[in-house]
Amino acid sequence: MRMTKNTILITGGAGFIGGNFVRHLSAERNVRLIVFDALTYAGNIASIADVIDGEKVIFVHGDICDTNAVQDIFDRHDIDQVVHFAAESHVDRSILGPRAFIETNVTGTLNLLMAARAKWQGGEAGKCFLHVSTDEVYGALSANDPAFDEQTAYAPNSPYSASKAASDHLVRAWRHTYGFPAIITNCSNNYGPGQFPEKLIPLMILNAVEEKPLPVYGDGMQVRDWLHVQDHCEALRLVLEKGVPGETYCIGGANEQPNLNIVHLVCDLVDARLGRTSNASRALIRHVTDRPGHDRRYAIDITKINRKLGWKPRFAFDAALGDTVDWYLSNGAWIEAIRSGEYLRFYDAQYSRRLEGEK
Ligand code: NAD
Ligand code: TYD
Repeated sequence: MRMTKNTILITGGAGFIGGNFVRHLSAERNVRLIVFDALTYAGNIASIADVIDGEKVIFVHGDICDTNAVQDIFDRHDIDQVVHFAAESHVDRSILGPRAFIETNVTGTLNLLMAARAKWQGGEAGKCFLHVSTDEVYGALSANDPAFDEQTAYAPNSPYSASKAASDHLVRAWRHTYGFPAIITNCSNNYGPGQFPEKLIPLMILNAVEEKPLPVYGDGMQVRDWLHVQDHCEALRLVLEKGVPGETYCIGGANEQPNLNIVHLVCDLVDARLGRTSNASRALIRHVTDRPGHDRRYAIDITKINRKLGWKPRFAFDAALGDTVDWYLSNGAWIEAIRSGEYLRFYDAQYSRRLEGEK
């Protein structure tokens, strides 16, 4: 089993999914984790501070766009596996400023591929580069289309998804051309503790708590397939242990929900937790100008990972969403630490005109 005494480089391990994955793996006996993260606006060292001990879990502050820093990590540590989360990850930010997405998601991935290949060449046995990607590379589904699977053709629509698709293609080419031992996973929308509050669920929770407007893009009937972050982490752990290099695995929550449904659920949970009258938070909902190029529906078919690796999601959405609301209600210090001046500037650029010019 590849998990035995492995040194695993985890890029983006101070972010939402990476942070949950570091916590998840830090409980394993025979692994050493090197967390490499630039601590951009989305990274919060507080998410993993309690498991960093300088031995089993080591934190290195660095940028995957910096070729020397990436090289240095591979030179200093005998890395067996890479789990590559680091990315610019928010679609709305990619619409406002696409360049950083190309730099981090494409060039940063290239740097990692080149450094890993140079180190592993000729001794690939037991090595694995797990590239964490998204269902958004497949484009948008209509209401009656079958869910995306590993055979679906790429059709990215946003600067974010185009940059992730480009990075997936690099990984694919490294597999095909060099026999590089890489696996790609394409997962659906994650939710759970520690997500930066620019994404739908934490943004709606915090705005509802603070009685701010809840900006729903367009009619709010866009559909996403919500996956609990800990189910995702379990899937990634299984892929690392048992996945076949050269393969792609789609990971989803089997849980399609229109956005408005989610916002209603969040409102009702917040009202119940804070002892407010019913519908108090729903009154804050504002239908605002839609996201340009907004993908209507995403859904993932999990047949392959279920059959090949025996994985399926375990979390029940309604209860886990309640736990997520509770996490945000009890982690005020974490929230304050990441709501920097940069966050406030983004929030203003993204929402002030939309909320003034409500439909
Ligand atoms: P996130 O934005 O919460 O975290 C990204 C992390 O990467 C942060 O800690 C940030 O500091 C770090 N980072 C950014 N640029 C970096 C750089 N140049 N060098 C080093 N570190 C850098 O993202 P997330 O939601 O945890 O997503 C993790 C991965 O999963 C991404 O690759 C994303 O595309 C993919 N993904 C996310 C979702 C989702 O719902 N969140 C869904 C599908 C796929
Ligand atoms: P998001 O969390 O940004 O994830 P993605 O765009 O990667 O799916 O958004 C999820 C859905 O929620 C998406 O259809 C856009 C919508 N949305 C809103 O309606 N309002 C908002 O303020 C945000 C952030 C998202």
